[in-house]
Formats: sequence, structure tokens, C-alpha cells
Amino acid sequence: MAEKILVTGGAGYIGSHCVLELLQAGYVPVVIDNFHNAIRGSEELPESLRRVQDIVHQPVLFQELDITDEAALQELFRKHRFSAVMHFAGLKAVGESVQKPLEYYRVNLTGTIRLLETMKAHGVRNIVFSSSATVYGDPKYLPLDEKHPVGGCTNPYGKSKFFIEEMIRDLCKAEKDWNAVLLRYFNPIGAHESGMIGEDPQGIPNNLMPYVAQVAVGRREFLSVFGNDYKTDDGTGVRDYIHVVDLAKGHIAALKKLKENCGCKVYNLGTGTGYSVLQMVRAMEKASGREIKYRITARREGDVASCYADPALAERELGWKAAFGLDKMCEDLWRWQLQNPTGFSKN
Ligand code: UFG
Repeated sequence: MAEKILVTGGAGYIGSHCVLELLQAGYVPVVIDNFHNAIRGSEELPESLRRVQDIVHQPVLFQELDITDEAALQELFRKHRFSAVMHFAGLKAVGESVQKPLEYYRVNLTGTIRLLETMKAHGVRNIVFSSSATVYGDPKYLPLDEKHPVGGCTNPYGKSKFFIEEMIRDLCKAEKDWNAVLLRYFNPIGAHESGMIGEDPQGIPNNLMPYVAQVAVGRREFLSVFGNDYKTDDGTGVRDYIHVVDLAKGHIAALKKLKENCGCKVYNLGTGTGYSVLQMVRAMEKASGREIKYRITARREGDVASCYADPALAERELGWKAAFGLDKMCEDLWRWQLQNPTGFSKN
């Protein structure tokens, strides 16, 4: 019998790519999402998942559900027997989290507590959690390995990721039958190579590559480069960009790890290579064949100069390694952007 995996927030950018990988690996994902950040398609499905169905020619099980709704979660767990949970649901805008801390803590922390309690009540003890390299705060050394101190984040979004990691760690310590893999993402970009699913930020993109792609396609006039006076080769910020499909494959490897009764494990998901903002602009110009206009502006508050992973532990213990390089990330991002200039919505 194929294993059923609950995917919270599975209509989103990373979630939908993971649902696709789960289906291709023979799992049965059951997706919940509250449409906070997803466009409705037909057949009661989010448009992202309707397209996943078209790619794999398999149905996707979906239910509209908010993880803070405990009664609905209980009902869901009565209906399905899950072998594990992949937990993506949560609010994720750094700037907004500074303005609305309580909302971020309510959704991200309360939502996760309700999810963990419901899992416990129904005997589900395996979880893969969507964490972030943001838990490392300002790097004390580079590349960042999993032993680097954590908790130095300055915004409520980042703190919520750190707090959830700690909660899950404490739970695994107290109850030895729990298994958890905490995945610290670096900067996921790109799209599935079909060009049918990808990142679809609502409003003005907060992150670099969706913004760059919108400039390339003519939706925005120019990119603001947030500072060129960092201590990096060209002065602009350096990050570890990782293809979202590689990231999704890392989640399948994590699911397999849970099977070993691994207790609580933490892994970086990155490539180990850092690129600057201007290198990313040039890579996207090459992939799109279009000029990307930019202006240097002031630094963005809270940004660090450089952040990149030591991904060796994931390779050693999960047997996972990022396969795609920068050109492929940009080509796939460009295909998605060109085929869907306004994302999943029709206009
Ligand atoms: N940048 C610009 N202009 C923009 C947007 C970004 O110059 O319009 C620069 C930033 O200053 C930074 C780089 O591009 O140097 C990457 O910025 P992103 O916003 O794309 O990514 P961050 O590394 O700042 O943030 C990401 C995730 C967060 C997470 C953080 C730390 O989006 O969720 O990594 O892990 F908290």
C-alpha cells in the first residue's frame, strides 16, 4: 500500500513542487491549504495543484483547511491514516512579520502546535519541517554548517522558524517514538522544467529572483539592488540559490530518513555556492536574452552580506545533493515567467 503523506501548505511554491515529487516517487500526498497565498483553479483545487495533476496525470487529494482550525485537523486525521507529515503551512514575509508579529506567532506557532497535538492524538509521529537558513542569523563563519549557533534572527518570521525547531526538538527529546527532519532552506528559486508551476508572489515580490523575472518579462521597470557596499567581491549581497526541484527532492530523502527512526535531525538544503545580486542579474539576462535594468539603492534592513551552506551533512546522511546549477535555475525560472507572465491568475 502506498504511504499517505499529509502536506500542509501544499498549494504554495515549495509545497506544490514537493507534491509533484511525492506523486512521482509513488506516495499519496493529501494536501491542505487555506488559500492565503494560492490562486483558486477549477475542480475545487488550487491552480498550482490542478497543474500538478496535468503534469503527472494523477489526481491530487486536496482539502481547503487552515492549520489553526483544530476541529478540522482532527476530522482530517480521522479520515486518513498518514505515515508522515510535511509541514510547509505558515506566513513567510519577513517585512510583514515585523509589522504583524502576533499574527505571525499565532499562525506559525499555534498552527504548528495544533498540528503536532493532532498528530500525537492519532499516533502519527513523523514530520518533515520547512525551516530556513534564517535561523542562523548573522553568520559567524562561512559556509554555514548545522553546528553554527542558531536563534540570532531579528524578525518574527525568522524567530517563528527557530521556535518551531526548538518545539519539535523538545518533543523528540521527551517522546522517543517521534522522528523529525528539520530542513533549513537557503534560497529556493527556479521552477519545474515544464514551466507549468512556479513561484507566484502576490503583489510586489519581496525576494530577488521573482522580482528580476518580472523585470525581464516587462512587468516591472527596474530592479532595486539593495546596497553595493557589502564586504563581497562586487559589493552586493551573496546567497546560496538552490533549484526548487532539488529542494523538493531533498524532502523525499528526508521522508526516507524518518523510516530509520532517526529522532530529531537537522539538515541544510543548499548548493554550497554563493552568488551575488549582480551575478544573478547577469545569469537571468543570459537565460532570458533580455536586458535587466537595475539601480543601486540603500541596504535593506536586516540583510546580511553573505550566506551560503555547507551541504555536506545532507549528502552524507540523506544521500542528497543539489544537481542543478545556476544556468538551469534561471532557464527554468524564465520558462515559467514567460509562459505565465501574470503567474497563476489569468490577467
Ligand atoms: N535583493 C535586492 N533587491 C530586491 C530583493 C532582494 O537587491 O528587490 C537582494 C537582497 O538584499 C539579498 C539578495 O537579493 O542580498 C537575496 O534577497 P531575497 O529577499 O531574495 O532573499 P533573502 O536571503 O533576504 O531571504 C531569504 C528568504 C527568507 C529567509 C532568508 C534567510 O526569502 O524567507 O532568506 O534565510 F528568511
